[in-house]
Amino acid sequence: MAEREVIGVVGGGQMGSGIAQLAAVSGFSVLLYDSNADVLVRANSSISSSICRLVSKGQLSQAASDDAMKNLKFAQSLEDFRDADVIIEAIVESEDVKKMLFLELDKIAKVSAILASNTSSISVTRLASTTSRPSQVIGMHFMNPPPIMKLIEIIRGADTSDEVYTTVKSLAERLGKTVICSQDYPGFIVNRILMPMINEAFYTLYTGVATKEDIDTGMKLGTNHPMGPLELADFIGLDVCLSIMKVLHEGLGDSKYSPCPLLVQYVDAGRLGRKKGIGVYSYQ
Ligand code: CAA
Ligand code: NAD
Repeated sequence: MAEREVIGVVGGGQMGSGIAQLAAVSGFSVLLYDSNADVLVRANSSISSSICRLVSKGQLSQAASDDAMKNLKFAQSLEDFRDADVIIEAIVESEDVKKMLFLELDKIAKVSAILASNTSSISVTRLASTTSRPSQVIGMHFMNPPPIMKLIEIIRGADTSDEVYTTVKSLAERLGKTVICSQDYPGFIVNRILMPMINEAFYTLYTGVATKEDIDTGMKLGTNHPMGPLELADFIGLDVCLSIMKVLHEGLGDSKYSPCPLLVQYVDAGRLGRKKGIGVYSYQ
């Protein structure tokens, strides 16, 4: 894949907008789409203010910032992805919704296009099975926030070809990231380890062991994590955390992955974390 080829990003929420920003700043031509037009308006303003911050901090020249903004286009519909070389989906963490998208993208995308998922936990093999090109489907798991975090976890589905793996690994490296490779099992590497810790933090709060502040301070100062687990859960989104725990629980069949009732209750109450202004903490 040459540098001027097109990267399509589906989903303009916190991950999709960050991936689009990173790719545009890295010199790729980027097309961003979300089924909610308001999300695209918000993505446009958050990407442009984030790029402006990079200029004011001296991390990006004004010319490079202008180029990045020119590299970024907003799609009106999925049909606009027909010329994309790699399409990265970053929509809601729901297997059914993602499968419907892959089915649609498979019909629209050119034959050579790679379909990548930013899923946190869902089987890439099952997403690939909805398409006519399972060898060209792969997991490309960015960490939040994508412009800052140094890692991309690549997940090989059962049929992902070596050629597609190599192309996506090289794309990730051109985005400035270090790559790790996971086989396609629930939660892959990072969330297989991270989410049970976050879930345990909810159990620690739920069973009255300590306050939320002491749990987070304990892990921040006691183990040098940049954010405490409850603060991190709010940052990721409690809906995303719950979806991942459900995939781990169902896929690995062990009660140790059972989502904490307090996490379930917060999601039921719409307390989804920073993006809603309230989660474990209030951000009003
Ligand atoms: N886009 C671009 N830049 C951003 C940003 C964003 N969304 N958010 C923060 N930054 C930049 C800031 O501008 C700042 O840059 P400088 O140092 O050059 O000034 C830098 O990041 C640090 O930001 P802040 O000073 O505002 O705040 P901080 O020091 O608390 O850092 C953080 C913020 C980088 C997010 C840090 O708290 C952190 O690393 N937290 C943990 C994040 C983490 O664990 N992510 C992985 C979650 S798991 C996952 O993603 C997988 C999954 O499937 C759920
Ligand atoms: P988000 O809720 O911020 O954004 C999801 C976006 O997808 C929304 O804007 C929604 O309008 C859009 N959307 C939903 N269905 C769509 C469809 N059919 N077509 C087009 N757009 C659609 O979620 P997020 O936190 O950005 O997560 C997105 C994906 O990235 C999920 O799979 C999640 O597991 C994964 N992920 C999240 C994080 C994180 O920290 N939040 C980290 C890594 C990976």
